[in-house]
Amino acid sequence: MTQAFLPPQITTEAGSGPDTVAQPRKVFVKTYGCQMNVYDSERMSDALTRDGYQAVDSVEAADLILINTCHIREKAAEKVYSQLGRLAKLKSQRNAAGGDLMVAVAGCVAQAEGQEIIRRAPVVDVVIGPQTYHRLPDALARARQGESVVETEFPAEDKFDNLPAAPEKAIRTRGVAAFLTVQEGCDKFCTFCVVPYTRGAEVSRPVGRIIEEAERLSGAGVREITLLGQNVNAWHGKGADGREWGLGELVRRLATIDGIDRIRYTTSHPRDMDDALIAAHRDLPELMPYLHLPVQSGSDRILKAMNRRHTAAEYIRLVERIRAARPDIALSGDFIVGFPGETDEDFEDTMRLIREVKYAAAYTFKYSIRPGTPGADMDNQVDEAVKSERLLQLQELISQQTRAFGKECVGKTVELLLEKPGRNTGQIVGRSPWLQPVIVDAKLGEIGDIVTVRITQPGTTSLFAEPVE
Ligand code: SAH
Ligand code: SF4
Ligand code: F3S
Repeated sequence: MTQAFLPPQITTEAGSGPDTVAQPRKVFVKTYGCQMNVYDSERMSDALTRDGYQAVDSVEAADLILINTCHIREKAAEKVYSQLGRLAKLKSQRNAAGGDLMVAVAGCVAQAEGQEIIRRAPVVDVVIGPQTYHRLPDALARARQGESVVETEFPAEDKFDNLPAAPEKAIRTRGVAAFLTVQEGCDKFCTFCVVPYTRGAEVSRPVGRIIEEAERLSGAGVREITLLGQNVNAWHGKGADGREWGLGELVRRLATIDGIDRIRYTTSHPRDMDDALIAAHRDLPELMPYLHLPVQSGSDRILKAMNRRHTAAEYIRLVERIRAARPDIALSGDFIVGFPGETDEDFEDTMRLIREVKYAAAYTFKYSIRPGTPGADMDNQVDEAVKSERLLQLQELISQQTRAFGKECVGKTVELLLEKPGRNTGQIVGRSPWLQPVIVDAKLGEIGDIVTVRITQPGTTSLFAEPVE
């Protein structure tokens, strides 16, 4: 859900493609949006690697620029168009000098805008929506013949099962924690949100494919997997025992895979948190005690207008049940302030809910109109200044809670998964069960090790810890 620019998550596997020539084509991937886009970019990079491409980390070095876009923010499409305007200049310079630069737009803006992208930005050779990434190599081949390609149908076949598996070498370079998409799309239609339109209806990946991918990840040294889905806990599928499984049963099965020591999942909808999943939190040490469970608002009136299909009290009861099953679980949330019709009292209800639940972290947003969603047509839009004021208050409360959570961790003995070298030599950074980065002495272990430490000190963005004697 990080809305900020995410660095390209791509790897190089030179010489692996079937039609690799002396000079492999070079691709630069730029990823915006949620973790699912990060995952998708990795899978597209893998597919392109197999097609003879090599990943590069600059626009200048690239023969293909692939922008994986997000549509969740206001003016998302306009920002893509201005970026494409800059690329148009680059492309005409390069191609005038005999180059052959291609530009492809993927992701949720591609899905939402479709053909319009080529019309407004003829610099673009390929527009490809999130459900058709398995057709990317073919789309590029057609574009190379001079065709402008737009692939935004929601196809009958499953994109995941038509995408080649990630090469082991690529997985290894990505580290010891990996994403694994198990579900995509959304049928919930919250009245503020574009996701059901850009990602399509809910689709669950079959159990066998998920296990296969988890085993491949584990074989390549991955120790923590984060299961992804727009509504990940709506995942369901036919289990090995012939019964219909929900996410709880799936997690239980994945926890038996050798080498997979930690499991997380995101993002959940409160309506889909069932007993089996809560029981998995109670029973499985592999299932990390951290849950992103967006509520959006604490006012029943607003929740209704948002079509969230739960009340504030139901949400709080759910949190109580989850905490009864796993007392040390930390929660994070998403909040929108200034949804159409939100009054001071409604906003106060949200603040009250936050005080009651106590979050470890949260993403906070001012409501902003997404054309095509029901919220866009509501005539009781809230003043921008009011939204800004409420956002500040809410963020202040969340920061207090985040700091309090960090302080509570001091003195605790926890397990860290060591993930990467620290910024300073002699340090290594691990991840706590609650997703906090924790800095420790590099002598403690190697990347991929799980070590036991005691938290000694909270920092601004990370914690410090020492080995347990
Ligand atoms: N269930 C999804 C939610 C995606 S959108 C998931 O997998 O993450 C992420 C968050 O963006 C939402 O929870 C919501 O808080 C925020 N958001 C979505 N549409 C918005 C809008 N129109 N204005 C402000 N915030 C919005
Ligand atoms: Fe959007 Fe609501 Fe679906 Fe989440 S549950 S993706 S907020 S429509
Ligand atoms: Fe953005 Fe699409 Fe993800 S709109 S948040 S990239 S599902």
